[in-house]
Amino acid sequence: MIERTYRRDAKETLLKGKIMKRKPLGRTGVYIPEIGLGTWKYRGGIEPLRVGISLGANMIDTAEMYGTEDIVGRAIDGIRDDVFVATKVSPQHFHYDDLIKSAETSLKKLNTNVIDLYQLHWPNPGIPIRETMKAMEDLVKWGKIRFIGVSNFSVRQMEEASAALSSNEIVSNQVEYSLVERGIESDLIPYCVKEKVTIIAYSPLARGGLLGGSSRGSKLLEELSRKYGKTKAQIALNWVISKEENIVAIPKADRVEHVKEDCGASGWKLSEDDIKELNKVFS
Ligand SMILES: NC(=O)c1ccc[n+]([C@@H]2O[C@H](COP(=O)([O-])OP(=O)(O)OC[C@H]3O[C@@H](n4cnc5c(N)ncnc54)[C@H](OP(=O)(O)O)[C@@H]3O)[C@@H](O)[C@H]2O)c1
Repeated sequence: MIERTYRRDAKETLLKGKIMKRKPLGRTGVYIPEIGLGTWKYRGGIEPLRVGISLGANMIDTAEMYGTEDIVGRAIDGIRDDVFVATKVSPQHFHYDDLIKSAETSLKKLNTNVIDLYQLHWPNPGIPIRETMKAMEDLVKWGKIRFIGVSNFSVRQMEEASAALSSNEIVSNQVEYSLVERGIESDLIPYCVKEKVTIIAYSPLARGGLLGGSSRGSKLLEELSRKYGKTKAQIALNWVISKEENIVAIPKADRVEHVKEDCGASGWKLSEDDIKELNKVFS
């Protein structure tokens, strides 16, 4: 039996002593955990996802392209109301009829009647965004999806996508962000802060690549790890989620001990000076 810690959408925990911090999702009034669970190349089975949910990481990210919607569907069986489920439609399915069909297939695989966040996986300049967004808005109208998000969109692409919506907003943009991948800092982060769009940071551990080696960055992570009594992964994740109120991260972990560690990246904060030092050393 899984311990219930947070209800889907809620700002506050159900139990005392749970420390996963939650952040607003766009302007929706819904709260999501600042550490969620990624599932690209996920091979961990049900248990790591369930452990993550019980520790408050009750947002799971998948995609029709990942081949992991089935396992997510099994992991949320019986606890659907406690979990915020995000999935994505692939760019080749952005024509109206294809997109509706993709959503139906994802709903079946996820074993649910509603997707909390449906994201356009990558931009597709070959298909008019107005046609794609008409399908997304119809899915909202029919109650098949709750919120519309995008992924890997630039500021310009977000502006075009927003302009193509008539009665909904883009609530999130899922983009790569980690100590070593900082491309969104100059324009996308300020834009999303201003427009109150949540940034869902993917590959926040640089696919694991951040944690080894003997570079200056790696040495600094070790030093901060000793200073805070946290692991290098926790320092790296805390850096991602500490910078702005609108950034959450979705590390992927097959191993239960990694999931626990990743959840422990929430609930505390690196000092401003240490954030600055990490910015400098990893720039
Ligand atoms: N929208 C997009 O285009 C896009 C693209 C890429 C990824 N994503 C999303 O973002 C998620 C995360 O990104 P990612 O999978 O590329 O990379 P990541 O989360 O940066 O790294 C995953 C790797 O880090 C390891 N790891 C996790 N926690 C750890 C810990 N505490 N200590 C040591 N190692 C740890 C994992 O090992 P184990 O698995 O062995 O535990 C795995 O090898 C994906 O799963 C997916 O949901 C989205």
